[in-house]
Order: sequence, then C-alpha cells, then structure tokens
Amino acid sequence: MAKSICLFNHKGGVSKTTTTFNLGWTLADQGKRVLIVDLDSQCNLTGLVLGFSAIDEDQMESFYRDRNNLTLQPIVESLINGVTPESLIASNKSNVLKTGNANLFLLPGHLNISDLDSQISVALKIATGIPATKNIPGALPKVLQLIADGINADYVLYDLSPNVGGLNEVMLMSSDHFIVPTSPDYFCLQAINSLAKNITKWHSEIRQFKESHGFDNKMFPIKNAPIFLGAIQQRFRPRNDKPSTSFKNWIDKIRNSINNTLVPDLQKIGCVVDRQRMEKSLSGTNLQPYDLAQISDFNSLIAISQQLSKPVFALTDEDIRSVGKVFGHAEDTMIDSKNNFAHNFQALGQRVLELTA
Ligand SMILES: Nc1ncnc2c1ncn2[C@@H]1O[C@H](COP(=O)(O)OP(=O)(O)OP(=O)(O)O)[C@@H](O)[C@H]1O
Ligand SMILES: [Mg+2]
Repeated sequence: MAKSICLFNHKGGVSKTTTTFNLGWTLADQGKRVLIVDLDSQCNLTGLVLGFSAIDEDQMESFYRDRNNLTLQPIVESLINGVTPESLIASNKSNVLKTGNANLFLLPGHLNISDLDSQISVALKIATGIPATKNIPGALPKVLQLIADGINADYVLYDLSPNVGGLNEVMLMSSDHFIVPTSPDYFCLQAINSLAKNITKWHSEIRQFKESHGFDNKMFPIKNAPIFLGAIQQRFRPRNDKPSTSFKNWIDKIRNSINNTLVPDLQKIGCVVDRQRMEKSLSGTNLQPYDLAQISDFNSLIAISQQLSKPVFALTDEDIRSVGKVFGHAEDTMIDSKNNFAHNFQALGQRVLELTA
C-alpha cells in the first residue's frame, strides 16, 4: 500500500505546494513511484505541474471538459452524491496525469473541492445522530488511497490548502506521516502554536466520530495517527550557506516552539517520529531536531523552474543558460546554486525514505 505524507501548515504561503512537487520529484528520482494530489481549490500544484499557461481561465474550463476520466472533479461530485469509493473506482479508469518525471504522477485539483470540504465538516460535527452522513469523512481518503494503489505508487503526497476545515482534518488524520513547511517570520511562529492545539482537537474529534459510529480501526481509512516527521525551513536568505542572522533568529524561535510546544502535544497523542531514528537521520549534518531540511530562497531560479514545470534542482545547465538568458559570472552563480539545491533535496529525499521505511 502507498505510504501517505501530508504537507501541512495552516499558515499560507510557506511553500507547501512547491515542496510537494519538489519532494515528490526527488523521491521519484530515487526510484519510487509517487503520486502527488492537489487538494487545494487554488489548484497551484496543478498549475505548477501542467505549466501556468495550461490553466488560464479559458483553458482550465476546457481542460476539465475534455477529461471525463478520474480527476478530482468527478470524485468530488460522486462523493457528494453518495457514491461509495469502491464503486467510484470500479466505474472509472484511474488516469492520473504524467509529469516531466517518469516516476511522478499528478491527480489535478479542482475549485469544487471546497464543496466537499464543507460537507465533511458538517458530517464530522453533527453526524452522530445522522447515519446517512457517516461515510462522508472517510470517503475521500479511501478513494485517494485506492487511486494511489491502482498505479502501484510507493508514496502519495497530499498538498493541502492553508485552512483548518474538515477536508484538511480528514486528510491529515488519515495520513501515515506529515511534514510542516515553515517560513522564517512571526506569522509562522504564531501558526506553530495553533497547529499543536488544532491537531490535538482533530485527534479527539476523529476518535469520538469513530467511536460513535463503531468504525473499526483496521477498516476505517482515517487511522487518526499521522506521524510528524519534522519541519522544513524555507525561503531564508543565506550567508555562507547558512541562514543570515535575521532569518536565523526566526528559524531558532520556530524550532524552539516546535520542540517545546508542538512535539510534546503530539507526543501525548502518539503522533511524533521516533526520536532516536530522527537523530540518526540528522547525524553528520548541521540540522537539529526536528529539522528535516533547510531550503534557502530560490531567487531567480524559481522563474526558470516555473516556466519549465521542473523543480529548481532538476534544471539542467542548458535550461539555466537558454531560459534564464544568463551568462558569465551570473550563469556560474546560478548553476552553483542549483547544484546546492540538488544536493539538499537529495538529502531530504533520503531522510524521508529513512524515516518512513
Ligand atoms: N525556497 C523558495 N524560494 C523562493 N520562493 C519560494 C520558495 N518556496 C516557495 N516559493 C514561492 O513562494 C510562494 C508560496 O509558495 P507555495 O505556493 O508553494 O506556498 P503554499 O504554502 O503552498 O501557499 P498556500 O498556503 O497559498 O497554498 C510561491 O510564489 C512560490 O513560488
Ligand atoms: Mg499551496
């Protein structure tokens, strides 16, 4: 069965989508079959993979009109109409999209996912006395699991939206693992504190929901035990390959908050990666518990990367020359920086493989 990983932080703009694509690509480079799923109505991941021009408004319409196969749009529609995950899969050929990496596949998102979000929220809150809605919360995680298994995926990565609605609740609590991307600023620090409270609340809500419906722990797709693998610090400006002082201050504060607030709260509900395994995976690096990676600002490489729908680290030297239109010293600097990212992402991929083995 595919191992599932959520990229989650309810704070917006911390690089959840970009990291889903990049981590998916690096795991695919390391020989795994990976499905990435766009669960955000903004559809940024879909745009990133297909190329931004492919989802201009007009083209977005025709993209979905021309695809009667299994993307998130018919899934959402069917689940809202009460179709079971098994019959939905049986009646549709799973046809996820290919990407620029032969081992990486995408299930594209759709604006209508927000309809399902509200249905799940209602079902979780008031469902106890209404048996008709009891299957709604487990249905989406189940369908996605079946799709991932249908393409023999080793990993399925979920890109979630920046909110604390029912859809994020069931996807996070059904996942095997989760990673928290962070940005080095005050808003993100605030988010870490509320993340701890939220996940604790979700854990108890799902437990009550399962108990009240007699859902069996083995059969029900929401296992309610996602394991926190660590945080990824993003978008800081480096100095000598390390975060410069002003960013370092925020990174340290956020790391402290993760160690002193988030991790102890998650430990109480059994949702943290084993400490010894984590420390072993960090040995020989500058990283500290619970860092998974430090990814500095991509600077102008991001523009080339988005234009070519490839992660920054997968750009070739020729991509940088011809699309970036740089030469001489600027070209060398960009190529060096790309190589650094390649090294960093490869290490991140290996660490994730180790921690989820
Ligand atoms: N390391 C990085 N360096 C520079 N820019 C980055 C980096 N990571 C992400 N970005 C840019 O930051 C912006 C936000 O990233 P992204 O969309 O991945 O965040 P998100 O957490 O998914 O946002 P949302 O909460 O809206 O879903 C995007 O414009 C993206 O291109
Ligand atoms: Mg996003």
